[in-house]
Amino acid sequence: MSRRLTSALASAALITLAAALPADAQSTATPTHASAHASAPKLVPVPVSLHVTSGTYQITAKTKIVVPSGTGLRAASYLASLLRRSTGFPLPIAREGAGIVLDASGGVGQGDEGYRLSVTSDGVLINADTGEGLFRGVQTLRQLLPAKVESHAKQAGPWAVSGVEIEDYPRFAYRGAMLDVARHFFSVKQVKRYIDLAAAYKVNAFHLHLSDDQGWRIAIKSWPRLAKFGGRTAVDGDPGGYYTQADYREIVKYAQQRFITVIPEIDTPGHTNAALASYAKLNCDGKAPKPYTGTDVGFSSLCTGKDITYAFLDDVIRELAKLTPGPYIHIGGDEAHSTKQKDYVKFIGKVQKIVHKYGKSMMGWEEIANAKISQDSVAAHWNPVTGTQEGTEPARSAAKQGVKLIMAPADRAYLDMKYTHKTPLGQDWAGLVEARRAYDWDPAKLITGVGESDVLGVEAPIWTETMKTLSEVEYMAYPRLPGIAEIGWSPASSHSWRGYRSRIAAQGPRWVAGSVSFYRSPQIPF
Ligand code: ACM
Repeated sequence: MSRRLTSALASAALITLAAALPADAQSTATPTHASAHASAPKLVPVPVSLHVTSGTYQITAKTKIVVPSGTGLRAASYLASLLRRSTGFPLPIAREGAGIVLDASGGVGQGDEGYRLSVTSDGVLINADTGEGLFRGVQTLRQLLPAKVESHAKQAGPWAVSGVEIEDYPRFAYRGAMLDVARHFFSVKQVKRYIDLAAAYKVNAFHLHLSDDQGWRIAIKSWPRLAKFGGRTAVDGDPGGYYTQADYREIVKYAQQRFITVIPEIDTPGHTNAALASYAKLNCDGKAPKPYTGTDVGFSSLCTGKDITYAFLDDVIRELAKLTPGPYIHIGGDEAHSTKQKDYVKFIGKVQKIVHKYGKSMMGWEEIANAKISQDSVAAHWNPVTGTQEGTEPARSAAKQGVKLIMAPADRAYLDMKYTHKTPLGQDWAGLVEARRAYDWDPAKLITGVGESDVLGVEAPIWTETMKTLSEVEYMAYPRLPGIAEIGWSPASSHSWRGYRSRIAAQGPRWVAGSVSFYRSPQIPF
C-alpha cells in the first residue's frame, strides 16, 4: 500500500481523535521557570532552569571574547563572526580578561552539551565541560541579544544583555534535521544555510537523504555513473545535481564546526530507481529502467538475490564511511513495497554487516526493525500513529530488540506536510500539521511500549517533492523545526503550548532580521 493510502486512513482517525479531546486537554501547566516571569527572556528551546537577575551587560566596541583554553575556540569564533556581522565591532578573541568568557574547564557535570550561562553587569560567563557545551550556550546567548543581532548587515546598538542565570542540558541525545536533496537538489551553500538555521535551535544531527528514485546526489568513485547519470534528474524534470566528495567533505566540516553530526543516507532496497537506471547490471533482468521524475513511491528495488548488489553496497558504504566521521550510515529501508518481505529481512542483515565492516552503526527508517538488527542500530519511527496504535509494530519491535528509536512521526514532525489546506507547498498524506500539532506531543508517550529510555531523540525530516528553493524549505520548516528541536532538548516538565507559543512568537523578529522565510501561523502571536 502506498503511503498516500495509509495516510488517508491515518488522518481520518487523527481528526476524530482531536475532536474528542477538550481544547486544552494537553498540558497547560505554566512551568515555574522561564515563562513564569513576565520579563524572562523568550528562549527556544526553553532551558532547564532560568532565573532573571539584576544588572545589564552592554556589548561595545571594546568587548572581547575570552577563551581561557583552546577547547572554546570553535564556539568563540562562531560567536565572533555572528556578532561582528551585525554589531560591526572587532570583538577580538583573547586568552584572558573580562567580557564574554567561554570557559570549558568543566565542573558543570551535565554531559557534553550541558552549560551554565550567567550575565551580570560585568560580563557574560558560559561554563561547560566541553567545546560542544559552550557552543550550545552560545546559541542561548544569541537569543538573549536584540533580534537585530541576526541581521547580515551592520546595525546600530545598543547591544544589551539582561542579567540572567541559566543552567541547561538536553533531554535527548539526538535532535535531528533531515533534508531531502534527492527529489530536488540543494547546493552546498543552501545546505550550509539550513545547517546554520538548525544550529540556532541546538539541533545536533543533520541527516542528508542522498539518494532516491529521482536522483543520486553523491559522487561514488567506484561507481561514477551513479552521480554522473543518476544525478542528472529531479522531480518534474527540474535540474538535478550532485555533491563531489570534496563538496560532501565541506558540508561535514561545516557541520562539525557547529557540533552537528552529518548522517548520510543511501536509501535501499527501495527508492533506488536512480541507481538502477545508472547501472543495468544492478537490475534482476539486467535492463536499466528509465530515469524517474514523478513522485510515486514503492516501485523500485535493488535485486536482493544478486551478488553484485552487495558488492555495489560494499563500495558505496566504504566510500561514504571514509568521508563520514559520524558513527552512522543510514541505509533507508523504508517503503520497500517491491521487495518480498523474506528478501527484505535477509537484505537488511547483509547490509548491516557491511556497515559494521566499515566501523559504523546502521541507521534506518523503522521498517528495518522488521528484521533482526543489532543493538547499536537506530530505527526512525515515521509512520503516523493513530489512536489504535495500528502500524506501530516496527517501532515496538525495535524497542523489544533493545534498538534505540528516533521519533519522526509524519503527522507531527514531517516539515513537508501542509500547515493548512491553503498552504501552497507540501503534501497532506499524513494530515495537516499546524504549528501546535508539530509541537504538542511527547516522543516518549507516542507509542505503547516505547518509553523514555528507548528514545534516542527526535528528527524533523523535510521531503522536497514540492520544494525547489531554500526559501520554500524555510517556509515549511519555520516555525515547526524549532518546535521539534525544543521537544528534543527541553525537559518534559516544561512542555506547555501556552509558554511555547509566546516564546516562539519572539523568534519572528529574529527570522525577519535574518531574512528567514517563515509561515506566520495564526496560532502564534507573531
Ligand atoms: C518515509 O517517509 N518514507 C520515511
